[in-house]
Amino acid sequence: MSVRHPLEEKALRQFRRFMAQGQTAAARDCLRDALAREANLPGVHVALARLRWPGPDYRFWLAWFHAHLAPGLYLEIGVEKGESLALALPSTRVVGVDPAPIGDPLQRCRGVARMYHRTSAAFFAAVPEDSGLESGGFDLAFIDGDHHFEAVLDDFVAAERYAAAGAVLLLHDTVPLDCATATREHRTGFYTGDAWKIVPCLRSLRPDLQIVTLPTAPTGLTVVTGLDPSSRVLRDRLPLIHQTYAPLPPDQAVAAPDSMFSLGLNDPSWMAGWLRSARGQ
Ligand SMILES: C[S@@+](CC[C@H](N)C(=O)[O-])C[C@H]1O[C@@H](n2cnc3c(N)ncnc32)[C@H](O)[C@@H]1O
Repeated sequence: MSVRHPLEEKALRQFRRFMAQGQTAAARDCLRDALAREANLPGVHVALARLRWPGPDYRFWLAWFHAHLAPGLYLEIGVEKGESLALALPSTRVVGVDPAPIGDPLQRCRGVARMYHRTSAAFFAAVPEDSGLESGGFDLAFIDGDHHFEAVLDDFVAAERYAAAGAVLLLHDTVPLDCATATREHRTGFYTGDAWKIVPCLRSLRPDLQIVTLPTAPTGLTVVTGLDPSSRVLRDRLPLIHQTYAPLPPDQAVAAPDSMFSLGLNDPSWMAGWLRSARGQ
């Protein structure tokens, strides 16, 4: 069991007291003050993230996409303990990929599920026939593996080739909370890496895609549809894309997420309307 930093305990106690008194600004300040003294306080980051994006969190949205789309095949890159995998419906065939899952991630899956203990790069280099991806493609995918920009981009490019008609692809951790947790180096327990760069990259280079980012805790969920398995736009330009996007600093992404990420509303009826129009229904 991990032990909390004493500063984290104290800050969270103060935070809860201010929140109970309806003093949201003071609650936020006490969390920020604690982080100014110690940069790695994961519980404080989580509390700040929930304050920033109130309402449904990303797990709510995963469950919502499953219920709304009832996908035939669901692909998840990065499954860890299987908490997000468990949200798939019993009727959905589940494909999970992770080189280092924790425990048995399939334990709580309710339908047919397969787990591939390997990196997404190894998985896509030789897609196993029994995954069902080669034959019919995925209807819903969730990319939540290696959070370096280049890895997320590779996952997107490789996964898009297996998108069924009308498929939806979700990208996790695309709206960084602050600069310290959005770097390429993994220095804090709460960490989004520079996965966020995939959004400006896709918005600029793939205007054919429909893209929106849900401002949901802890750090956003980007929804992509209109996928084109035959597209070579990204594949053919990888070195140039790396050169352009890898060096981007996180400052603007943190300070002005609306302009960079095309934020939608953290609201199911809004999302249902967006999806209807994005998928031309
Ligand atoms: C944030 S966790 C996933 C959490 C899970 N999706 C959830 O919501 O409960 C990230 C996972 O990605 C996995 N991972 C790291 N590098 C990977 C790679 N190259 N390919 C696939 N998975 C990777 C890690 O082992 C870790 O379990």
